[in-house]
Amino acid sequence: MSVMAESPSSPDHRSADKILRIGIVGLGQASGLVLNWERQDIRTLPIRFTAAADLRQEALAQFAKEYDAEVYSDVEALCRSPNVDAVYISSPHELHREHTIIAARNGKHVLCEKPLSLSAAEVDEMIAACDQHGVHLIAAHSHAMDAPIRAMREVIASGRLGPVRHINAINYNFFNAQPWPTRELQMWHGDLYNQGPHQMDIIRYLGGGMVKSVRAQTWWDHLRNVEGGYSAFIEFENGAVSTAVFDWRGYFDSTCYTWNASEGGWAQDPGSSGYVRDNMKRLLAEKSADAAEAELWKLKNDLRYGGVSDNEAFQRWGYAPVTPGFKPFDEPVQPFFGLIIVACDRGIIRQSLEGLYIHGDHGVEEVPVTGHSGRAAEFMQVYDAVFNDKPSFHDGRWGKGTVELCQAIEQSAAERRTIELKHQVPVGDEPA
Ligand SMILES: NC(=O)c1ccc[n+]([C@@H]2O[C@H](COP(=O)([O-])OP(=O)(O)OC[C@H]3O[C@@H](n4cnc5c(N)ncnc54)[C@H](O)[C@@H]3O)[C@@H](O)[C@H]2O)c1
Repeated sequence: MSVMAESPSSPDHRSADKILRIGIVGLGQASGLVLNWERQDIRTLPIRFTAAADLRQEALAQFAKEYDAEVYSDVEALCRSPNVDAVYISSPHELHREHTIIAARNGKHVLCEKPLSLSAAEVDEMIAACDQHGVHLIAAHSHAMDAPIRAMREVIASGRLGPVRHINAINYNFFNAQPWPTRELQMWHGDLYNQGPHQMDIIRYLGGGMVKSVRAQTWWDHLRNVEGGYSAFIEFENGAVSTAVFDWRGYFDSTCYTWNASEGGWAQDPGSSGYVRDNMKRLLAEKSADAAEAELWKLKNDLRYGGVSDNEAFQRWGYAPVTPGFKPFDEPVQPFFGLIIVACDRGIIRQSLEGLYIHGDHGVEEVPVTGHSGRAAEFMQVYDAVFNDKPSFHDGRWGKGTVELCQAIEQSAAERRTIELKHQVPVGDEPA
C-alpha cells in the first residue's frame, strides 16, 4: 500500500482551490453506494476523494486505481495525510467513536455515518474530541436530507400551513431478510440502530427537533432472532406528536404505498420482499449456523466496494422483480423512506413521485422538487462548514439527539413506560 508523507495537517488547513479533499474510512457497502450509485450527484460537487483506509486490500487496490488516490490500512495514517481535509467515516457502527476521535486529534473534519455511535454517551466523547481540536462533526447519512423531506421542512418553516400537529411515519421493508451477517443484526438490534435513525431523524427534523418524550414497543423477528420492528408515540416540546411504525421482517413492503418508489427513488417490486425472505429462510434452514454466517459474510462482501458488480450481487440474492408485469422506472424518482404524512394546523403535506402534494384549504397543489438523494447535500454541509463558515444544524449534537431517541425507544419497550428525552436540539428555523 502506498503511504504518503506523514506530516499532520493543521486544523485550519484548507486547499487553496476550495476543493474539499475527503479521505474515506471504510470502503464497504455504504462507500460502494456513495462511489457507485450516488456518484452522479456527488461528481458535480467541489469535493475530491483523495484517500481511503480499509483492512481489505482488494478494495484499497481498486480505489487506488480508480481514483489515483492514497490508500492506507491504518486509519491514523490516513488522518495524518496532508492531502485530506475531512474524513467520511463509513466503518462499522462500533468503530465510529474511535475513528472520529482519531480524525479529530489529527485536525480532520468528520462526516460520520449513522448512527453516530451506539449510545449518546459515546457520541459525547466524539463531540468533545471535535470541539477540543476545532473540527466540525456532521452526522451523515440521513434520509432527512433527501430533497423532498427538506422541501417539506421548508413548507413547515414558511409558516403557511401553521404549526405541525402530527407526523405519521410508516415503513415496512425486508431489511432483516437481506444478507446481513447475524453478528451485525445483533449489534444493530435488528434495524433499530441501523435504519431506525433515518426514520427518527426525519420525524425530529419535520417536528422541529425537540422531542419531549417517547412511548414505544418493539417486537421480535423469529427468522433472524433479533428485533423485528417498533411502534412509537413521540411527543415534541412544541405540542406536535408523531406515530411511527417500522417493521423490517420482510413480510410486507410498504413501497406499495409509494408508487413502488424505494428509499433510493428506484422502482422496487413490493412482491420481492416475500421472495427475499424465502431466500433467507432457505439459507438458514439448509446450513449450519456457522456455514450460514460464512455465506452471509460472502454475500455482504459481494455488495461492498470492490465486490462483484452491484447488479450481479443484487440479482444473486434475488432483489430482481418477481411480480409479473412489474415495470422499473426509466429514471429514479424522488426517494421515499416509507410513507411520511405531515398534518399541520391548516393542511397536510405528503410526497408525490416528483415532489410534494400540499393539501390545503383551497385544494391540493403539487410542488415539484429538484434534487433527489441527500448524500450530495451532506457532503456540501461539510464543505459549507469548512469553506463558508456555515455550520450545519445536522451536527454531532443533532446526531446525539437521534441516537438518544433510538435508545429511548428500546428503553421504553423494555420498561413499558414513557421515557423523557434530555439531549434534544432544535432545527432552528421555526417561524416566528
Ligand atoms: N450498507 C449500506 O447500505 C449502508 C448504507 C448507508 C449507510 N450505511 C452505514 O455505513 C456504515 C458502514 O456500513 P457498511 O454496511 O458499509 O459496512 P461494511 O462492513 O460493508 O463496511 C465497513 C468497511 O470498514 C472496513 N473496516 C472495518 N474495520 C476497519 C478498521 N479498523 N479500519 C479501517 N477499515 C475498517 C471494512 O473492511 C469494510 O470495508 C454503517 O455505519 C452503516 O450504518 C450503510
